[in-house]
Amino acid sequence: MNLGNLPYTLQRMHLADLPTVSAIERQVFATPWSIQAYRQEVLYHDTATYLVLRYAGAEGGSPAPRRPWGTRQDPTLLGYGGVWLVLDEAHICTLAVRPAWRGRGLGELLLASLIERALEQAAQIVTLEARASNQTAQNLYAKYGFEPVGVRKRYYPDNQEDALIMSTPPIQTDEYRAAHQVRVEALLRRLHEAHQALPGAEPRSGEAGRS
Ligand SMILES: CC(C)(COP(=O)(O)OP(=O)(O)OC[C@H]1O[C@@H](n2cnc3c(N)ncnc32)[C@H](O)[C@@H]1OP(=O)(O)O)[C@@H](O)C(=O)NCCC(=O)NCCS
Repeated sequence: MNLGNLPYTLQRMHLADLPTVSAIERQVFATPWSIQAYRQEVLYHDTATYLVLRYAGAEGGSPAPRRPWGTRQDPTLLGYGGVWLVLDEAHICTLAVRPAWRGRGLGELLLASLIERALEQAAQIVTLEARASNQTAQNLYAKYGFEPVGVRKRYYPDNQEDALIMSTPPIQTDEYRAAHQVRVEALLRRLHEAHQALPGAEPRSGEAGRS
């Protein structure tokens, strides 16, 4: 996706990102994937795509340089997401935005980019699981055409909560592509307007709570 002059970058997840990804993962999810799991995914899962979103608007306006594996965290890394291609189905396996950066369209930017990856890979549909109680995520997914298609009972080990299985309609259609384009254009307009209104925007203080 072309982000124009927005102060964000979207890049493939790299090993050097994992300490930061893992820290966000632990902050955000009740059953976080381990750093080793991410390492396996990034290195060996050929049909998986993991993206990281960075804030590139801090001093100097360029993304923080990549740091070697195991060194300190990258505060410019705001969120990440992943999609697996399984035959002709794309499955979104993770999506997270730092708490202090939520509500600005960044989760949507990551989701739209993962769907674009699925389109490129000729996937026919995109699926995912969401906690039954996670209304925020379900709203986001509904915005991109996902609908509930089933339930995995007691899917989450921490509290035995059900997972809602959600799926898009077929995505390789003119109808879905056109609707996707309209949503992305609206999102990019929103992000540009927010950027122009607050050119020096920084994260709100105090990243509180877990989802
Ligand atoms: C889900 C998550 C990625 C959304 O990221 P975000 O950057 O805050 O979301 P956005 O600002 O892009 O919002 C996109 C849409 O999500 C929904 N949404 C976002 N915040 C919401 C809220 N507080 N309440 C209800 N719906 C909300 C809305 O549909 C919104 O569209 P709108 O702006 O047109 O109303 C983020 O909340 C998160 O990381 N949560 C914890 C991890 C998680 O639950 N991941 C999903 C696992 S299935």
